Amino acid sequence: MTDVLPDDDAAAGQSARELLMAHRVTRLASSVVRDLLAMTQRPALISFAGGLPAPDLFDVAGLGLAFERAITSDPRRVFQYSPTEGSDQLRTSVAERLTRNRLPSEPDDVLITTGSQQALALTALALVDTGSTVLVEEPTYLAALQALQLAGARVVGVPSDEEGLEPAALERVVKRERPAALYLVPNFANPTGKTLSAPRRVAIARLAHEHGFWVIEDDPYGELRFEGEAHAPLSSLPEAADRSVYLGSFSKIGAPGLRLGWLRAPEALRRVVCVIKQSIDLHTSTVDQAAATWYLQSGRIDPHVELLRAKYAGRRNAMLGALGELMPPGTTWNKPEGGMFVWLRLKGDVDTAEVLPRALSSNVAFVPGAAFYSSSPDRATMRLSFATHPPREIVEGLRRLALVLGAG
Ligand SMILES: Cc1ncc(COP(=O)(O)O)c(C=O)c1O
Repeated sequence: MTDVLPDDDAAAGQSARELLMAHRVTRLASSVVRDLLAMTQRPALISFAGGLPAPDLFDVAGLGLAFERAITSDPRRVFQYSPTEGSDQLRTSVAERLTRNRLPSEPDDVLITTGSQQALALTALALVDTGSTVLVEEPTYLAALQALQLAGARVVGVPSDEEGLEPAALERVVKRERPAALYLVPNFANPTGKTLSAPRRVAIARLAHEHGFWVIEDDPYGELRFEGEAHAPLSSLPEAADRSVYLGSFSKIGAPGLRLGWLRAPEALRRVVCVIKQSIDLHTSTVDQAAATWYLQSGRIDPHVELLRAKYAGRRNAMLGALGELMPPGTTWNKPEGGMFVWLRLKGDVDTAEVLPRALSSNVAFVPGAAFYSSSPDRATMRLSFATHPPREIVEGLRRLALVLGAG
C-alpha cells in the first residue's frame, strides 16, 4: 500500500500531516495494485480485473431516448435544483421495484443518492463515530472499507464460508466488539460472488435485534440472478425492520455513468442522512433522475435486465468451463449463481500480487485478493470478473493466465 498523496508529494517526502491535511486522510491508502491496473488500458489486454458492467450491453438507444424525453418534456424543471431526498417520481419507481423484489416499500422510505457508493458513505457518516467498530464480511468490497474508514470506523472482519457470513462467528465477534454496524453484500458479493443463505439472513437479523447494531445491506447485484431462487432481503425481516439500511443501484441494471443509487432506511436515519447529503451535494442530478425515471417506467428496463442475465450467465459459464480445463491442479473457485465475479484460490501460499506483473506482460489482468481483506489476507486468492468480455475472449484470457501459472 502507498500513501494516497500524488507521487510528486510522496517523492518530496511530505506526509499528509506535514502538508497540514486532516488527520483522517493519513489513514487513506491507495493500493499499488490498483495503480498498476489503472495504467493498463492497452486494447490487447483481456481484463478480468474491472468491476465494470459490460459497455457493449448498455441500452444506449433506450438511455438516449430517456434523456431526450426527460429534457424535452419539462426542460425548465430538469435543469433546476430539486429536493435533496430525490424526485417523487423516481422514489415512486424505486419503491415499486423494491416491493416487487420482496422488500415492501413506500416512496417516502427511499432517498435517491449519487450512486450507491454515496449511499454507503452517507450511511457511514450517520452511524459511525471516530473509533466505532464496524464489522464486515471477510473479504469484502474495497470501497466499503475505504468509506467506513474515512468515517472513522475501526473495521473488523468476520469469517465467511460458501453460504456467506457465519452467524456463530458473528455472534462471537459481536459480543467481543459491541459494533455500531455490520456491512454486508448479501447477493453475489463483490469480491467473492457468494450469496448469503436464507437461514443465515434470519440468524443475522436476530443478532442485530438482540445486540442492537445496524445492518448495512448493500445490494447492487441482486437483480443479476441467473439461476436458483432469490432470498428475501435481510431488511424485509421483521427483526431487522428498525435496524437495517438497504442500498440499491442503477449501475448494474442500467448504466453506472448516471451515478444513481438509493437508500431505504427507517425514518429517523433517513432524515439524518438527508441532512448530511444536503451538506455534501444538495441533491443528485435532476436531469439524470428524470431520465432514469423515464427509463424505469418505459418498460425497457425488464427486458434489458433479462438480456444482462442471459449474457452474463453465458460469460460465467465460459469462465467456469475454461477454469476447469486450464487451471493447475489444486486451484479452487466458486460457482456464483449471478452477479459478475468468481473468487479463485491458487494452491499453497502463492502471492497472487506477485503473479500480476507477469500476467500483465501476457496481456491478462485480475485483482489479487489481498486488497479486499480488512486484516490477515489470504494472498493466494484473486477476483475474476466475467462481465466485461465475451466468451471467446474469456477463454483466451484464461489460457494466457494458465500459461503464466505454469499450466495450460
Ligand atoms: C458491493 C458494491 N457496492 C457499491 C458499489 C457502488 O456502486 P454505484 O455505482 O451504485 O456507486 C459497487 C460497485 O462496484 C459494489 O460492488
